[in-house]
Amino acid sequence: MSTQVDLKELAEGRKYLLSGSVGGELPLCLVSGKGSIVKDINGKEYIDCTSQAWSYNIGFSHPKVIEAAIEQIKNGLTHCRTSFETIPKLRLLKKLGEIAPGNLKKISFCLHGSVANEGALKLAMINKPDAFKFLAPYDNYSGRTLATIAASWPYRPISRNFAPFMQNFIRVPNAYCYRCPFGLKYPDCNLLCAEFIKTTLERGAESVAALIMEPLQASGGMIPPPQDYLKRVREICNEYGVLLIFDEVQTGFGRLGEMFASELYDTIPDILTFGKGIGGGFPLFGVMLRDDLKGYEPATHSFTFAHFPVAMATACATLDIIKEENLLENVRKMGKYITEKLLQMKEKYELIGDVRGPGLMIGIELVKNKETKEPACEEATQFIKEGVKRGVIFGQSKFRGVGNVVKIKPPFVITKEEADKVLEVFEEITDLLSPK
Ligand SMILES: Cc1ncc(COP(=O)(O)O)c(C=O)c1O
Repeated sequence: MSTQVDLKELAEGRKYLLSGSVGGELPLCLVSGKGSIVKDINGKEYIDCTSQAWSYNIGFSHPKVIEAAIEQIKNGLTHCRTSFETIPKLRLLKKLGEIAPGNLKKISFCLHGSVANEGALKLAMINKPDAFKFLAPYDNYSGRTLATIAASWPYRPISRNFAPFMQNFIRVPNAYCYRCPFGLKYPDCNLLCAEFIKTTLERGAESVAALIMEPLQASGGMIPPPQDYLKRVREICNEYGVLLIFDEVQTGFGRLGEMFASELYDTIPDILTFGKGIGGGFPLFGVMLRDDLKGYEPATHSFTFAHFPVAMATACATLDIIKEENLLENVRKMGKYITEKLLQMKEKYELIGDVRGPGLMIGIELVKNKETKEPACEEATQFIKEGVKRGVIFGQSKFRGVGNVVKIKPPFVITKEEADKVLEVFEEITDLLSPK
């Protein structure tokens, strides 16, 4: 590849990039991908445990996705105003309507997770017109538009002074059992974190439109809740007439081994946002709404490129692939395999404080000392760099402002051989960075 491109031209281009537009910490120029592997401009291959922001769930360059995209492009309709129907849109609506959890059968689309979440907030306000406040858990991540920054935990520097722009978000403690906000242990805690939501709502639920949350907190540190937590949250929202929004942008379409986290945790929200993996590598997000609730009024959530027909065609192909190739089974199988091996490593290494799943949503919390649980942040940053040297791209949870969680969230098609290589590299780096 490097023989076909003018590296000087690329270097010139790099000079013009606005700071902060990319992470910049990994100096890789990627040129191609296949399955779980990406290749850089020098021909070096990497197993991508980030699935490119957890989006290539079915793997890179799946022939059926490419075929679907090319067919739609050849039709000459890569873009279409939201006012019109297209064949991919109607096909996708049918497929999504059939698998949507519970009665979340009214669906809309957009191109970003942040915009999907803003849409969910609007729908909550449309359905509870006198309410203007929202609850959001600590360490929540909803996106980086102004409203979604406010819904996320406002850590600097990412949220800077933008967070107060929307002032109506009230924080509630999250179900972070490894570092319980109350210093308690599950199940003796009797889910005090959920009960705290009730305590908050007792003081003015009328003004609260909704609770917005990820069923499993991803960017905040890969924090799965205890099995019965979401059910209790659902009961509390019902009791106080507050809508429940699940952000399934990361968890939706199979990453936990079930199609939706709502199914895994047996809790159906009133509004669900989705995206990332559904597009098969093309941008597509959206909102699912309970079918007895009020939808948008005309033009209340409309965008120029919101109904991207190519992504809708690739999304149809993606849903077929997940089913035909039984990919959720591989998520469960490989997720269990990798997690069990990591748990064995945890016994051996001081650096590994906690290993969390389920499925291919794996987070490893690094600590300097297992007893004090002091976060090993520099080590986590170094971990990612050492991974790249060895041909594995690991993810790092930076959002919570701590950044000591290494993430393993590869495409669902990861093979046992690739998983073994990831584990071998993981152990080598853990050994290298462990306190001696
Ligand atoms: C759970 C969750 N919600 C929302 C978003 C925001 O999506 P986008 O970056 O497309 O705006 C993300 C992005 O990482 C996410 O992980």
